[in-house]
Amino acid sequence: MSKGPASGRSDDDTWDIATSVGATAVMVASARAVETASEQPLIRDEFAQMLIEGPELATLVAKMEATYAADPERAAIRAHMVNYQAARTHFFDAYFTAAAAAGIRQHVILASGLDSRAYRLDWPTGTTVYEIDQPKVLEYKAATLAANGVEPVADRREVAADLRFDWPKTLRDNGFDPAQPTAWLAEGLLMFLPGDAEERLFADIDALSAPGSRACIEDFTFDDAAREAYEQRRVKTDELRQRLGDENVFDPGDLWYTDDERRDPAAWFGTHNWRVQSLTGSDYLTQLGRPLPEEPSVAATFRAVFVSAEKP
Ligand SMILES: C[S@@+](CC[C@H](N)C(=O)[O-])C[C@H]1O[C@@H](n2cnc3c(N)ncnc32)[C@H](O)[C@@H]1O
Repeated sequence: MSKGPASGRSDDDTWDIATSVGATAVMVASARAVETASEQPLIRDEFAQMLIEGPELATLVAKMEATYAADPERAAIRAHMVNYQAARTHFFDAYFTAAAAAGIRQHVILASGLDSRAYRLDWPTGTTVYEIDQPKVLEYKAATLAANGVEPVADRREVAADLRFDWPKTLRDNGFDPAQPTAWLAEGLLMFLPGDAEERLFADIDALSAPGSRACIEDFTFDDAAREAYEQRRVKTDELRQRLGDENVFDPGDLWYTDDERRDPAAWFGTHNWRVQSLTGSDYLTQLGRPLPEEPSVAATFRAVFVSAEKP
């Protein structure tokens, strides 16, 4: 059961790209833009910069930059975010590429935000990519890329739905075929869902997956160390708000459901007869030759696990 909404949330809240949970999509896309522009990028998301340059986002992006400049801990988090987003994008790009090579032609990106994979991966002919997110988030991405003359490579279908409610119906209404094997992705999503919605999401993925389907899920470790780091950061965020004289200083932690009971996705899919493998984000960063954060509070906050599952 959900233990109630996080401080900055209500159970049926909505948002656009510049506010609340929508703004977190801007935060991660801006990290991909920084990585892409770096000297030796791990990934190339050539649309990330274009997507964060919309006039609707100018104030938000400027505020985010101002907080990195005003607080060394936030600057350290940001530096790690760029590395970590590069690694996770690298991992999930490879996941979709392998699923396509194995013949899967139906892909679902849950909480797609400013993910540009439908536009930038080398999808085989006949591939459909369903993107599920809030309507205004989907609308912003498609309109911004279209205005820049960018077209999707795959048949991209927008599924405007709330992942806390009956999204499977909207997915089917847009042409999704549960008889075909599917590759699912939940990247940067779980902490924004109440615990009960998270469990329903796993059950819905399972129910909609034909044999041969795959799922990749980014799970977050929220143990005592993470909770303590989170609580300390909340205090610092309030201080920063006072110091900058801006009560709207953005903190994604305000939007997480930190008190809810969480399922372990690896265990959940394992007990539902999927073959499961897990890799920690830290191990993947190390494999890629990228540094881990030195500050304990940053390290404690960003402990992710990439769960890969296949339905026999
Ligand atoms: C941190 S962003 C991640 C976006 C994208 N997956 C990426 O990695 O670039 C979180 C995204 O989850 C979406 N999201 C969170 N909760 C949602 C919900 N209940 N229904 C639909 N979308 C949701 C937000 O709109 C936002 O685009």
